Amino acid sequence: MLPAVTATRYVTPLREGGSLPGLMEADDLGTYVVKWRAAGQGVKVLVAEVVCAELARALDLPVPALVTVDVVPELGVGEPDVEVQELLQRSAGRNLGLDYLPGALDFEAGADGVDPQLAGRVLWFDALIGNVDRSWRNPNMLFWHGRLQLIDHGAALTFHHHWPGAEAAVARPYDASAHALLECEPDVPAADAALASRVTRSLLENVLAQVPDEWLEDDDDAVRTRYVDQLLARLAARDAWLPPLVAAAEAGGGGRRRAPRGENRPAWLGPPPPEGMTQR
Ligand SMILES: Nc1ncnc2c1ncn2[C@@H]1O[C@H](COP(=O)(O)OP(=O)(O)OP(=O)(O)O)[C@@H](O)[C@H]1O
Ligand SMILES: [Mg+2]
Repeated sequence: MLPAVTATRYVTPLREGGSLPGLMEADDLGTYVVKWRAAGQGVKVLVAEVVCAELARALDLPVPALVTVDVVPELGVGEPDVEVQELLQRSAGRNLGLDYLPGALDFEAGADGVDPQLAGRVLWFDALIGNVDRSWRNPNMLFWHGRLQLIDHGAALTFHHHWPGAEAAVARPYDASAHALLECEPDVPAADAALASRVTRSLLENVLAQVPDEWLEDDDDAVRTRYVDQLLARLAARDAWLPPLVAAAEAGGGGRRRAPRGENRPAWLGPPPPEGMTQR
């Protein structure tokens, strides 16, 4: 089970995130990025966050610690933004907290620090979980104390939004064409050799055991088994998705990670200033 904490103060919304995660302090004196149970895509996003982050952790990929955060609506009274206040009120009860990494840098600032071994493992992991949210536009990776940290797995495990289609997702190739680590020369065969045999039924059962019952449908044990079976089937279908993943990694990103200077510049601003001058 994830450690459970109780929120003591709402600090501020994190507006970089589409789901308006909130920064909160808790009774263990920790500070957490809270993902709301009532946010747009629903509670399954929280399930995906827990399953993927705990699977990553079990494979020694770096992810922030997770907790559940009990929130009472009164904590939102000082929040001036009505949308945020409503979100917090509708989310009364148990939400997901990620250990807040103060001073973490965006991925872009340290992308050169990802070695091919780690890049390969992250790419392989994202293909396994079907993570559509690790693109160079929205990398969902941070650097903290010089070390990569993976965040935001709410958009992975898309099969759980429509179980009847889950079987068709088992062998589906992963579209790595815009993956943020494609230019780090990811070593996918080495990742597969190191990680595949570690993803066992008992490891996945331990991962699913971390998901709180109240975020799952009625028969929680049967639902947990469905996730385990789906991920094991995905693993067993590597013949279908691994070769194209290796090919995509070998082809690299084609220099797309960094948008050319001035690409997003509105025409009325004129041409970009000479290299070396900064603009705010
Ligand atoms: N544990 C953390 N420590 C520090 N900053 C964080 C942490 N988690 C998230 N952030 C910051 O908050 C932003 C939003 O978080 P996240 O991507 O998880 O939210 P989201 O609402 O799912 O976002 P998206 O718009 O990508 O769907 C991140 O880009 C990052 O800048
Ligand atoms: Mg994000």
